[in-house]
Amino acid sequence: MRTKLVAGNWKLNGSRESNRALVAGILDGLSDAAGVEVMVCPPCVYLPEVAAQLSGSSVKLGAQNVSAEVAGAFTGEVAAAMLREVGCTHSIIGHSERRTLYGETDMVVAAKFEAARAVGLIPVFCIGETRDERESDATMDVISRQVAAVLDVAGPSGFAEAVIAYEPVWAIGTGLTASPEQAQQVHAHIRRIIAAADVKIAADIQILYGGSVKGANAAELFAMEDIDGGLIGGASLDAAEFLAICAAAAQTN
Ligand code: 13P
Repeated sequence: MRTKLVAGNWKLNGSRESNRALVAGILDGLSDAAGVEVMVCPPCVYLPEVAAQLSGSSVKLGAQNVSAEVAGAFTGEVAAAMLREVGCTHSIIGHSERRTLYGETDMVVAAKFEAARAVGLIPVFCIGETRDERESDATMDVISRQVAAVLDVAGPSGFAEAVIAYEPVWAIGTGLTASPEQAQQVHAHIRRIIAAADVKIAADIQILYGGSVKGANAAELFAMEDIDGGLIGGASLDAAEFLAICAAAAQTN
């Protein structure tokens, strides 16, 4: 039985003051989300402060990105061990914004996945097709290629402590959401790819959906067999909306 996970990806948003209010709001209202794993992923400069505010709660802390490197002359990078040291349990890896805006290839994403795992940081490995790819019926091929890139490097056991997030690029920040059926089809495809390598790991891995998830559409998505929660962008910046999504996850757990 997989536990649902609802993770807030704050992206490049927030300030000390707004973070404090957002985290306080989430902690205040979380009683409705019993049995759900909840996580926030603030910009990395705020991680220690948010970690302190979360201390004693069950809310987990994730980073939005991690370096593939361990240490050395890599200006601007943040290593996986550093993220662990300040309290992160997870890191988002290979978000489509990193892939498209910062040129992260499948190979770079695989290296980051391995760098995270090497220190026990759980990768939240993001995959998804563009609108053009969906319209040309290439969705499943794109997903297969993106998963294979990591599977080749990390092996099936690499997915024993990992989370996958399916985020159709056309649904991110657009207000367009994959229908529950569209998302389920891709989630089942992802699980089949992992199952071909290891049935048990495939059955246990959390596969999140991301792309314009809100309180109003979360329950129908999370009710699908292979959707184990959400990676939430815009709606994670509003405590009430984020809590509504967490409550939807609790209902469908
Ligand atoms: P939105 O929820 O704003 O569409 O963003 C989704 C996302 O990219 C989460 O990582």
